[in-house]
Amino acid sequence: MRIAIAGATGVVGRHTVAAATSRGHDILPLTRGTGFDLERGTGPTGTSLAAVLAGVDALVDVSSVQTTATARSRDFFTAVTRNLLAAERDAGVEHHVALSIVGIDGVDASYFAGKHAQERLVQAGPVPFTILRATQFHEFAEQMTERLSLGRLITPIPVGRFRPIAAREVGARLVELAESGPAGRARDLTGPRDERIAEMVRRMFAHDGVRRPVVEFGLPGAYGRAAASGVLRGGADADRAAITFDEWVRSEDHTPVDVRPGSAASARR
Ligand SMILES: NC(=O)c1ccc[n+]([C@@H]2O[C@H](COP(=O)([O-])OP(=O)(O)OC[C@H]3O[C@@H](n4cnc5c(N)ncnc54)[C@H](OP(=O)(O)O)[C@@H]3O)[C@@H](O)[C@H]2O)c1
Repeated sequence: MRIAIAGATGVVGRHTVAAATSRGHDILPLTRGTGFDLERGTGPTGTSLAAVLAGVDALVDVSSVQTTATARSRDFFTAVTRNLLAAERDAGVEHHVALSIVGIDGVDASYFAGKHAQERLVQAGPVPFTILRATQFHEFAEQMTERLSLGRLITPIPVGRFRPIAAREVGARLVELAESGPAGRARDLTGPRDERIAEMVRRMFAHDGVRRPVVEFGLPGAYGRAAASGVLRGGADADRAAITFDEWVRSEDHTPVDVRPGSAASARR
């Protein structure tokens, strides 16, 4: 199959590309680095998205924006989803696969507002679709550490009760779904064990040799309440992946904190 991957260089995008390539698929990566701005709906050097998507069998959207602002998230996911669906319709792409997040029902705020907007557009759109909801990635511990760095003294981490999953396993599932054809809302996919994000970061720091206190704090607002409540862990009917957080920390998928871009020595205290 020829599979377009929007967000191919991201945390889950890289694993999606690897899984698709290993299964013999032909990949078309859509990122700003490869000349596409999906929010503006532009392709490299003036080509239309629809022209580029000619001959594509399925498009997997794992693009994202780093924000907790409701309006910014909604604007990003609305623009990207509209642009992709219109181009897929015009190019005759017959399967749109979107990745969303487990447990966001009733939390139409912060980053999740964009995911709701995305899901609604995909469900009402012109292209047959599959929506997979997954829980927070193990890699979320790395992402949080990078984004919430407060000087060199402490790492503040919001209260969060998750059932995290390796992005590698999400990427593999997305490729299986792309191969299987449009299925509507797919069965949710969660990790194998319940975790507190602050504990995940502490264990990651211990593995990486980082001596820096992790301080847990309550995040206000709908997102904070949802993360603290445990609702983002998903239900008993979800599929459970295999790789635990501790296995992931010891694997090549984890880049030790002190060698990650932007967090070099600053994390070692
Ligand atoms: N992180 C989690 O724990 C988690 C859990 C469940 C679901 N998800 C979902 O998984 C998806 C991917 O998340 P992620 O954390 O893997 O994202 P990420 O690492 O932040 O990667 C985002 C990707 O989107 C691309 N991108 C951003 N803006 C773009 C634009 N205007 N045009 C084209 N490409 C653009 C980026 O490439 P360039 O910068 O080169 O453009 C990059 O490849 C999201 O839909 C997210 O909601 C994430």
